[in-house]
Formats: sequence, structure tokens, C-alpha cells
Amino acid sequence: MRNETIFLKDYTPPAYLIDDVHLTFKLDPTKTRVLSRIAFHPNPETTDRDFFLHGEQLSLISATVDGKACRPEIADEGLIIAVPDAPFIFEAEVEISPSTNTALEGLYMSNGMYCTQCEAEGFRKITYYPDRPDVMTTFTVRVEGDLPVLLSNGNPAASGDGWAEWHDPWPKPSYLFALVAGDLVAHPDSFNTMSGKQVELNIYVRPGDEHKCAFGMEALKRSMVWDEQIYGREYDLDIFNIVAVDDFNMGAMENKGLNIFNSSAVLASPETSTDTNFERIEAIIAHEYFHNWTGNRITCRDWFQLCLKEGLTVFRDQQFTGDMRSHAVKRINDVLALRGRQFREDNGPLAHPVRPDSFVEINNFYTATVYEKGAEVIGMLKRLVGDADYAKALDLYFERHDGDAATIEDWLKVFEDTTGRDLDQFKRWYEQAGTPRLTVTDHFDNGTYTLHLKQETPPTPGQPKKDPRVIPVAVGLLNPNGDEVVETTILEMTEAEQSFEFKGLAARPVPSILRGFSAPVILQRDTTNAERAFLLAHDTDPFNKWEAGRALGKDTLSRMVTNGTPPDNAYLDALMAVLRDDTLDPAFRALALSLPGQDDIAQTLFDAGLTPDPDKIYRASQTLKQTLAQHLQDLLPKIYAEMHVPGPYSPDAEAAGNRALQGAALSLLSRLDGGSAASRQYESADNMTQQLGALSCLLTIEKGEAELAAFRTQWGQDRLVMDKWFGLQVTYAAPERAAATADRLTKDPEFDLINPNRFRAVFGALAMNAAGFHDPTGTSYNLVADWLIRLDALNPQTTARLSTAFETWRRYDGDRQSLIRDALERIQSTPGLSRDTSEMVGRILN
Ligand code: PHE
Ligand code: ZN
Repeated sequence: MRNETIFLKDYTPPAYLIDDVHLTFKLDPTKTRVLSRIAFHPNPETTDRDFFLHGEQLSLISATVDGKACRPEIADEGLIIAVPDAPFIFEAEVEISPSTNTALEGLYMSNGMYCTQCEAEGFRKITYYPDRPDVMTTFTVRVEGDLPVLLSNGNPAASGDGWAEWHDPWPKPSYLFALVAGDLVAHPDSFNTMSGKQVELNIYVRPGDEHKCAFGMEALKRSMVWDEQIYGREYDLDIFNIVAVDDFNMGAMENKGLNIFNSSAVLASPETSTDTNFERIEAIIAHEYFHNWTGNRITCRDWFQLCLKEGLTVFRDQQFTGDMRSHAVKRINDVLALRGRQFREDNGPLAHPVRPDSFVEINNFYTATVYEKGAEVIGMLKRLVGDADYAKALDLYFERHDGDAATIEDWLKVFEDTTGRDLDQFKRWYEQAGTPRLTVTDHFDNGTYTLHLKQETPPTPGQPKKDPRVIPVAVGLLNPNGDEVVETTILEMTEAEQSFEFKGLAARPVPSILRGFSAPVILQRDTTNAERAFLLAHDTDPFNKWEAGRALGKDTLSRMVTNGTPPDNAYLDALMAVLRDDTLDPAFRALALSLPGQDDIAQTLFDAGLTPDPDKIYRASQTLKQTLAQHLQDLLPKIYAEMHVPGPYSPDAEAAGNRALQGAALSLLSRLDGGSAASRQYESADNMTQQLGALSCLLTIEKGEAELAAFRTQWGQDRLVMDKWFGLQVTYAAPERAAATADRLTKDPEFDLINPNRFRAVFGALAMNAAGFHDPTGTSYNLVADWLIRLDALNPQTTARLSTAFETWRRYDGDRQSLIRDALERIQSTPGLSRDTSEMVGRILN
């Protein structure tokens, strides 16, 4: 097994390129034959003529070069043969075993259906090939198998009894290859593109799931229209297929013309899916569809450039969701996710640049930093150049790089050429890891208000010193009476320290800094709770209005934890005012009411030089919720009733917003009424949002035993709903019972180690139950370690991903640290541990 580090600086172009490739698959669960015919030619851009094909876990049956049998040298990770310094045809036949492939990478089986996952380096488990994204070609694929549905990329070319041929006219790298075969049913539709071409659309599912396709299909059509209208991008094949697969490591995959989805990311119905599920499904469908241009037509030269496609495509799906729903609410949710996952990563041992410069296993770099911070970087670029130039730069990007395997340098160059700006300093956002701390002080003198900004980025692994970055700081100023005196302006910070002046002001203003969260930084400013409450009441920027409430909440909780100070009435009153204000969007009010998470408080305390105690944080948040419930006592039943949505369920943003606020009210109310309103809601609910919402409220107050059993009886046949049943119990378990609950669930007959959704439902939830995971006895640490060790032998990718549960360990006290160290070392010393997990655990330990 390869274990060495690969560096960006060592990139060399491929020695041979490909004119076209023909593949034939003779499907069989344990003996699938793959025949390949690849037309190679020497790459004129290089004199390197070393011929190497990647290949792993393949049995080579035969190989020929220009029709002559050859005896290749089989190395650990591929194959070496002598080939001419001229065009030639390579043919091979290999045998693979999809049914025993539990890693879910390459060709594998899920519920009797064949499917593939090739990104990043899975194609080499299908056949011998130059499995790197800068080798692009057209694919013709023949699938043979006794199954009703046989799919691959591109357009259907021909078919008959037990076989089908597909041709993809667009050159693509191997990671975008896909094949699906099974007993599937289609939910069909069609779409007329802006130039009048008709595209056939299908969502393929297992029989029985047909009723869960309609929402995904509508979301797909909305995405297709949006990309035409906003980015001028039209779809480019006759057919677009989506397939739902139960066993899948990630959310979904953008294979050309044949997107493969984790069934949790596409299947939806009112009875089985929550509002949050619907919104996520819409976003993932859009994301994968948008990859057709940002990822497929323009792909990445090498895997270090992953953010080129992912950062941009996340940014595009965020814009889309904002346009479909509410920009303010979407921005708040995105920042919550960014802080919850990316800031946590950036402030720990796994911190890495948006464009990493080295890796051992690329699968470990599908991270919040590459995706979410990658999207933030694009948002900053757009803020700096303005909307019009952003649009021009994107047009140039598509025009100049269509068909290319491109780099971040190419991407930045289109912005430089469009705007005349020098983006050298901006590029540091791609190269330097770590979250900048932006410290702000201000003063007012004689009508002039000065903001003094200072930026500093703490050291991260391999990067002790950081250079100042370009930071777009969006600022607005408010008068003491609440009016806005200076509208949002972008301060372009480029120095380590810099001052900005606002002249001609009648009175000292209240600043609203980092509006819309204009840069992914941690803002540090000594301010009063009175000022925060003022901004919560008056800020015209919805993000900063919410942020002011959040800051109040953080301050309140932190004081409760560190000095036992009871919650400040000013904070409780401010929340009451927001809750009462029916000019505010209910979804926004629900967000304002949600308290900072326990992990967030732990990081905040750690940043302040303290050692967070997860138990104390847990107890303080319980107390705060109880106090808040009492404070809002009279208002809660009123809000709960007002937010009732009449009529049949619809997942639209407005109805979902009402239900979100109703749910927030119910959760506080349950702390006062012993759960009677929640029990009633559980009984009468006709949709999963309200059913699950009610059950969560009951579990939080340690009730709901009967409902939990009824839920299982009702939904025992639905895998996706059962994932909720598993997750819920761990999520809402009291800290001292979290590990025991997870342990009990692993013994349930429905627990399934092979299915990543089910495994994550239990262990992802345990990792997120902060006080439960950090139980001082270390039982959770040990349980998670035991199960990661077991899973690693079957599915390295999902194991490595879940090992991030331990990434925050340095925040905690010595006892916890030594328990975690033991658990990590135990994982690390497991014989045969995968490259994926060993890299992750190694980095976490260092
Ligand atoms: N490229 C996929 C996406 O972001 C994610 C993915 C990566 C899926 C690797 C599977 C394996 O849309
Ligand atoms: Zn993506």
C-alpha cells in the first residue's frame, strides 16, 4: 500500500493522451469482466514517455498492444509495459468482483443493483487506465447483463435484449465515468433548453420508491432554468439521468449525464421527509447539475485543484437556494454550517489550505475547507470585483476553458484579465490555512469616525507564519436613534493593520461590521450587550441582525459556564422582541431563537484561553433553554397557534418557515407543559417535519418512549426514515446515556455496518452529542474507536471521515486528552489499517 505524500509542486503532464476509449462490461456479481480498448498517442507537450496505467484489485486476464499479446509488469498500484513512441491501441480484459466491494468505490452492488463511484480515484478499480483528471477522452460503453435497466454516461446509442450501448460525445476524465444496472423504475419527464432542444429526464429508483421522485424532478428542472438564466449555461446531451442508491459514501456524484445520488439526497415525500430534507435535496440536485459546467465541461488538472470545481459549484448552489427561498435565511444557515464544520477544522490539527499542497489520500480532502471555505473565497472575489465584473469573468472562464482540465491560476487569471486587478495577494486565500482573526477598535472625534482593523491568522500545521490577506469588510453605520447613516460599504483591507475613516457624522455611530458575513474571519471586538441588543433591534442587514442576537447568546452562555452568572434579562427581552415582531420572516425568527451550539461555545472558551468543560456547557444550555421558556411563557402558545399552516403539506420556503418557528416554540413549550402539546402534535401530524419535531421535543424532556416504539412500527420498512429513528435516540440522549444508547442500537437487527447512512445515523450523532461524546469516563471515545476499527476493514472512506469526531481533542482537559490519545493510538496500531484512516488519525495526533 502506497503511503507516501504527493505534492502539488511535483505535477507533471501525462506522457500519453487518449483519442477514445471503448469499454464492455459483462456483469456478474463476483466475476464481472471488463474489456477495454484504448487509443493512446504520445503527449506532444512532454518528452516523458514512461507508460503507466493505474489499476488496483484487478485480475488481469489478457492485454495487447496493437493486437499483440504482451506481458505487462504488474506493480502494486498499476501496470507498466513497453509501448511505441507513436499512436497505438491498448486492449485488456480484467475481472472484478462488485458484490464483495464494501468500500463503495469502483463498481459495487447495492440491493442487487450494480453501480459505480469513481471520484476521485475509483476508476482504477474497474480497469487499467491513466486514472487522472487531466486525461480526457470520449467514452463508448457497452453493458451486458440480464437486468431491465442498463445505463452509462452520455446518449443511448443502441440496445437489445440484455445489452445496451452508450456514447458520451464530451471528452471527460475517468472520475466522471458511471455505470448503473438493475431492476429499476424511472420517473420520467422532459425539459426544453433555451435553444429549443428537448432533453429526456429520468430519476431511477427501486420499485416502491416511485412516489418519492416528484420533488427531485421539479428541483432538477428549476436548476436547469436557473443555470440558463443566471450563468447562460445550457445542458448538452439528449438525456439526463439521476439514480438513487442506498449505499453511498457521500451525498451525490456528478457523473456526466448520469448523476448517482445517495437515496437520502434525492428521495422525498411529505410523510417521510422533513422541511430540512427537502431543502437539502433541492440544493444537492442543483449542485450536481451545476457541475455539468463547473466540473465536467471544465474540470480540474489534478486533485489539488479540487476547489476549482467544488468551491465554485457550492457557491452556485448557495446562490440558487437563496434565489429559490430566502437570501437572508440561506446566508445564516450557510454561516452556521461554515462555523460549525469549517472553522472547527481550520482551528485544529486537520487545518489545510483551500488548495492543499500535499496529500496522502485525496479522499481525505473532500472537506468543509475545500467546499465551504472554497465557496466563501468565490463570494469574496465577487464582492471585491462587483456583480457585473463577476458575470463577465465567468463568461470568459467558460469561453476560455471549455474542454480544459484547469487550475486555480487559470481561474484567477480570468478575473485579472476581466478587471485589470492584480490578484496575487488574494491568492493567499487559496494557499494559507487558518481562520483570520479580525480585531476591530474604533473612535469618534469631531464628526469623524475611525475603524481600526487588525488581522492575524494563527499558525496551522506546516504554516507557522501567515501573510496578510485581502479582506472585504462590509460595514454600515447606524445613528443612535436606529437610522442608517452610512449604507453598506466594502472596506478593502490589505494590510496587517489598517484604519478607515467616515467623515461628517453628527454623532458617534454604532457600527455594523462584516455585514452579510463578507469574509470567513472571526471578528473580535470589545462591545457591550446593550450595543448588541441595539443591533438586534435596528440593523438593516439581516445577517448582522441575527449575528447580534447570536453574539448575545454566546456571551450569555459563556458567562453562565465560566462564572455561573444567570442569563441576562436584556438578552431574554431582546429575544422576546424578535419573537413578537411579526414583520420578521418566521424562518428568521426561528433562527434568532436557536441558541449557539455546545461545540461553538467550547471553541469560543478555548479561544479565550480557557479549558471548556462539556458537562458544564451542556448544563448551562439546558438552564438557558429552561429560563428562556419561562421568560417567553405567555408568548409560546400564541406563536405555536399562529404558525399553524392550514391545508395539505407543501415544502415551500414560507410554509417551512412557519413550521420552523412553530417547532422552535414547541420545543420551549415542552419544557413547561410536560410534553402535552408535543404528544398531541405527534398524534395528529400528517408530515415528517411535525412528526419528527414532536418526537424530538419529547425525547429532549426524557419522554416519548411510546411514540418511539410507534414510530418504529410505522416506519420499519423505510430505510431513510429508520435512519432518523436511529439518529434521534443518540442525538437526544442525556450525556451519561449517549454511549449506552449508541451501543444498544448497534445490537438492533436493523443496524447495518455496510450502509454509511445507518452507520452515520448512530456514530455521526454520537460525535455531535458534545457532552455525550466527551463523557468523562471515556466510554464514547472507546465505543467510537471500536467501531471505526471494525468499519475500516470494510469502508475506509467513511471511517476516515468519521474519525474527525476527535479533531477537537486538544481543546479539552488532560484527562480527556489522554483518553482520546489512547483511543486514537489504538486505531492507529490496528494491523492493515487503511491509508485513508491512517492519514487522518496521524494528522489528528500530531
Ligand atoms: N463530487 C461530489 C460532489 O461534490 C462529491 C463526491 C466526491 C462524491 C467523492 C463521491 C466521491 O458533488
Ligand atoms: Zn460537488
